[in-house]
Amino acid sequence: MKETPEIRPAEGKLGVLLPGFGAVATTFVAGVEAARRGLAKPVGSLTQMQTIRLGKRNENRTPLIKDFVPLAGLDDLVFGAWDPIADNAYDSAVNAGVLHKQNHLDPMKDFLETIQPMPAAFSTDYVKKLDGPNVKKAANKKELAEQLREDIRNFKAENGCDRLVMVWCGSTEVFLRPGPQHETLEAFEKAMEENDPGIAPSMLYAYAAIMEGVPYANGAPNLSADFPALENAAIERGVPIGGKDFKTGQTLMKTILAPGFKARMLGLNGWFSTNILGNRDGEVLDDPESFKTKEESKLGALEHILQPEKYPDLYSDMYHKVRINYYPPRGDNKEGWDNIDIFGWMGYGMQIKVDFLCRDSILAAPIVLDLALFLDLAGRAGLSGIQEWLSFYFKAPQTLPGLYPEHDIFIQHWKLKNTLRWMMGEDQITHLGMDYEP
Ligand SMILES: NC(=O)c1ccc[n+]([C@@H]2O[C@H](COP(=O)([O-])OP(=O)(O)OC[C@H]3O[C@@H](n4cnc5c(N)ncnc54)[C@H](O)[C@@H]3O)[C@@H](O)[C@H]2O)c1
Repeated sequence: MKETPEIRPAEGKLGVLLPGFGAVATTFVAGVEAARRGLAKPVGSLTQMQTIRLGKRNENRTPLIKDFVPLAGLDDLVFGAWDPIADNAYDSAVNAGVLHKQNHLDPMKDFLETIQPMPAAFSTDYVKKLDGPNVKKAANKKELAEQLREDIRNFKAENGCDRLVMVWCGSTEVFLRPGPQHETLEAFEKAMEENDPGIAPSMLYAYAAIMEGVPYANGAPNLSADFPALENAAIERGVPIGGKDFKTGQTLMKTILAPGFKARMLGLNGWFSTNILGNRDGEVLDDPESFKTKEESKLGALEHILQPEKYPDLYSDMYHKVRINYYPPRGDNKEGWDNIDIFGWMGYGMQIKVDFLCRDSILAAPIVLDLALFLDLAGRAGLSGIQEWLSFYFKAPQTLPGLYPEHDIFIQHWKLKNTLRWMMGEDQITHLGMDYEP
């Protein structure tokens, strides 16, 4: 096993950079400020609320995670953003309609209005349903990336930050497959100079972050940093990265339920999932090319959890379908239906219906916070490249070459906590317990 790392202390300010300043990003920023002011609790955040058991059950050592590992405190966070729509955090949050205007946004208006998104590296070629005037201009994509790098350096200096992290909260881009231009850093840089259509804006942010030594997480399903050129650049530069696609509503439910069916050796004939949502994200996903990116991300989980190749009697014939429908009246308060056809003893069928009336951005905001704080921790611990222990937060976890992604939320959770124990030189928890037996 790798040796326990030295971890630099979390001193000074941590700048959290957010490409995409819509519903998720502004709900995250407003929630952190509300927690700082004592107006709300950071519910859903492991870094703020969860404990971790250390040692044997009879030792009674269960500190909060934030008291166990050296994390940046909420008071040390400062926020920066880019968006083609020039709304400040207050206006964007009001437009998103996630948080209550009178109860939560108006009392923090003074603070929220100070965060103004920088001009974005954006193109309607990759997000067809949106447009906005707050965009950068450059002769080619490489120059756009250089402008982003300059933004990063300026933000750090102007805000007196000790460290930065970046979490992509931008729209889902059209579906792209990695090609030769994504193989090596040289090929990728040449492709940027040549305005290759295979280079999407989210990749420019990921490149800029990695080249500036800034840990990067991708909250959307588009490739962004999910290809060899940037994965290797991250390792070479000692930068931790993670992705893709925040695990929130329906996929969260799927990765909670499916491991239970498999544990009980119950079979599955089909899983039909449909959603209605009416926010800006829903509008973007109404474009078939952006939906395809999302669909790929959502479909992977069941196959990997249920392992039909290992359990052909139970899972080889399952039918899995995911639909997303844009329905404006619903706003951010999505409704996700699941119809699950399972079978048991002697093949007798049963049905489970899940109707999850969730709030997408309420589920996503604590993920942004935890990713920012854990990636910063990983950077100070000298970890680089894909951080598989953060798969817990993603619908389509990036993996090391040759490994399959782990989707089971319970395994992901265990791995996350064991990684924290390893970082701090504590024993791994196996739940074996034989040493208590007489
Ligand atoms: N629970 C969730 O809400 C959830 C879960 C998983 C993934 N996601 C993903 O997170 C992302 C954000 O979701 P949201 O609900 O906040 O969407 P949103 O539409 O409210 O916000 C996205 C913002 O990104 C901006 N944007 C698009 N391209 C950009 C670019 N190149 N540079 C900078 N900004 C850009 C848009 O103008 C928009 O303001 C989406 O990709 C979504 O699919 C959200």
